[in-house]
Amino acid sequence: MHQLRLRLVFAASQATPPRVQEGCPAPAELPAAIAELKRQRNAVILAHYYQEPAIQDIADFIGDSLELSRKAAATEADVIVFCGVHFMAETAKILNPGKTVLLPDLDAGCSLADACPADAFAAFRAAHPDHLVVSYINCSAAVKAQSDLICTSSNAVDLIKQLPPEQPILFAPDQNLGRWVQRQSGRDLSLWPGSCQVHETFSEQALLQLKLDHPNAEVIAHPECQQNLLDLADFIGSTSSLLRHAAESPAPAFIVLTEPGILHQMQRALPDKAFHPVPGADGCSCNTCPYMRLNTLEKLWSCLNSLAPAIELDEELRLRALAPIERMLAMSR
Ligand code: 13P
Ligand code: SF4
Repeated sequence: MHQLRLRLVFAASQATPPRVQEGCPAPAELPAAIAELKRQRNAVILAHYYQEPAIQDIADFIGDSLELSRKAAATEADVIVFCGVHFMAETAKILNPGKTVLLPDLDAGCSLADACPADAFAAFRAAHPDHLVVSYINCSAAVKAQSDLICTSSNAVDLIKQLPPEQPILFAPDQNLGRWVQRQSGRDLSLWPGSCQVHETFSEQALLQLKLDHPNAEVIAHPECQQNLLDLADFIGSTSSLLRHAAESPAPAFIVLTEPGILHQMQRALPDKAFHPVPGADGCSCNTCPYMRLNTLEKLWSCLNSLAPAIELDEELRLRALAPIERMLAMSR
């Protein structure tokens, strides 16, 4: 099913005409042209670790969801170019209503956010009236607006531990992350049954083979992975925590259970260590996030050139979505 959905996303992205404008410079000139446009627009480029290496290389800041939210909240730039997916750019707009927030490709969505439609979520909440609603940042503004607290994979365990022990909690939309948070915090969470199509694609068989081939390697995993894979991991954490752990651990090699875009920063920061991505089941290369990878340098140039596509939000919805994000930023250490 996941393979089918991935193929559909790839097919859709191939069918869509490229949103690149006339006048786009040749590939070799793009980095300089983007830097010049960025100066003219007083723009900042934020990029997630899952972006293609060429985008990471020209970003002003690369980070995980929490770090990128913090940067978006603090920036003095007039224009934020968010090289990531829609919910990330939307979060930046919620925090910065007066700024122009650009997403190079507006189709860069997220299977996890899509797995939690706002109306179905409202019914789920209504069925748990005494519960506090904690939502992972990978959700739409309409779901954030129905939440009491937002979290990311960096701070979820810590935030849940700060809540009163007797308080029942709903956790959405990632059930794999939710189960990991339950184990780490000792809290019982009512879980929305969503998951990420990329993190559910890794092959356990390929992982076991990689462990045999690289006996000195540690397995490091993102908590969005399924339980059978997390059971084989030596360390579990957000993208930034995986990067930090690789630097701090004495291990010479790592088998990496998350989107392989992060290997670019790992190899850059730790050139003497080896990093092995885990392929998808069926040996496919669908371990890359098809939404993240819709952004390209050409589309980055185009959006800075025309200041579009920009994220727009209804003000009443924005204010309701802002409150649980601000709560998260205040509670994050
Ligand atoms: P991080 O918060 O760890 O960067 O994860 C974001 C994400 O989308 C994982 O799939
Ligand atoms: Fe969403 Fe998964 Fe892509 Fe992360 S990797 S942005 S959770 S589809």
